[in-house]
Amino acid sequence: TPRVFSGIQPSGGLTLGNYLGAMKRFVTMQNEGTHETIYCMVDLHAITAKRLDPNELRNNTRELCAGFIAAGIDPEKSVLFNQSQVAEHTQLAWILNCVARMGWMGRMTQWKDKAGKNAENASLGLFAYPALMAADILIYHATHVPVGEDQKQHLELTRDIAAKFNHDYGVEFFPITEPVIGGAATRVMNLQDGTKKMSKSDPSDKTRINLTDGADAIAKKIRKAKTDPDPLPDTVDGLEGRPDARNLVNIYAALADITQQEVLDQHAGALFGHFKVALADVAVDQLAPISTEMARLMNDPAEIDRILGRGAERAREIAGPILDRTYDIVGMLRS
Ligand code: TYM
Repeated sequence: TPRVFSGIQPSGGLTLGNYLGAMKRFVTMQNEGTHETIYCMVDLHAITAKRLDPNELRNNTRELCAGFIAAGIDPEKSVLFNQSQVAEHTQLAWILNCVARMGWMGRMTQWKDKAGKNAENASLGLFAYPALMAADILIYHATHVPVGEDQKQHLELTRDIAAKFNHDYGVEFFPITEPVIGGAATRVMNLQDGTKKMSKSDPSDKTRINLTDGADAIAKKIRKAKTDPDPLPDTVDGLEGRPDARNLVNIYAALADITQQEVLDQHAGALFGHFKVALADVAVDQLAPISTEMARLMNDPAEIDRILGRGAERAREIAGPILDRTYDIVGMLRS
């Protein structure tokens, strides 16, 4: 059966971008029941950019787990676990570090953006980040990886690494993974600047909706979102050159599970003041219960740890044999 894998960093604060670009689609794929679904909090990735306070990292990881469950991931139906609890990820990552080329890694736009001009001072882990990500996927022989648009280049690299391993060792072992990037919200933009991605690291909280925001905060941020004075067009082409308007239409479509054109069919000719009221209604209906449920789950951290422990056991059952076969192919002596 086809196998889905995806991960989210517990680097603090889930945004509407994470929810619409990733989590909501993870839930759909889980519930379709046609794929085996494996979802991971990637705590090892979360320390590549900067040192996090250890208690903060633990808390972020639990909160992310609560977010997955509140959004609809069922830890019985999906394998839900924390990356560092399954050592096979880092074990395979080492092998893949020896397959990936420095030149490939150096071309990653996220590396260039995050290391900036001061690459001398960036961590080695930040540079190797995409090889660990490839290991996350390939240690399960995952065939499909749902992500937002910003991860596309990393998934192309994963395919290159898998193909080079297969070629170098003369095997057809690792699958060439398909990125699953689709729907209306593959790139949710900043609410105050529709040309920038919505991000948890933006200093201004008005630029994003957090999954922990309550109904009032959600409604207020939508009311204050940047727009333009023109009414909604009647076709998607009419959104050309209007990034803020387009973003709100995309968010509405993704929340309501309809196409952008269907949003315009319902709201063409409306001014944004009016449309935002409708958007806030849909957003609050869908997101406020998630933040309430997350807070409830966070009251019982021991239960979250138990769920993650069980998830890690199930993950190891799949990853262990694939690591063994990889070591055999490479020629690591086992006795
Ligand atoms: P991360 O933690 O930055 O983001 C998690 C997921 O959310 C998506 N996303 C968005 N989608 C739409 N609009 C946005 N504004 C937006 N912001 C974030 C991301 O595309 C991602 O799908 N490298 C990954 C984590 C990772 C991973 C993996 C993913 C590690 N190993 C293996 C897939 C498979 C990351 O940093 O995602």
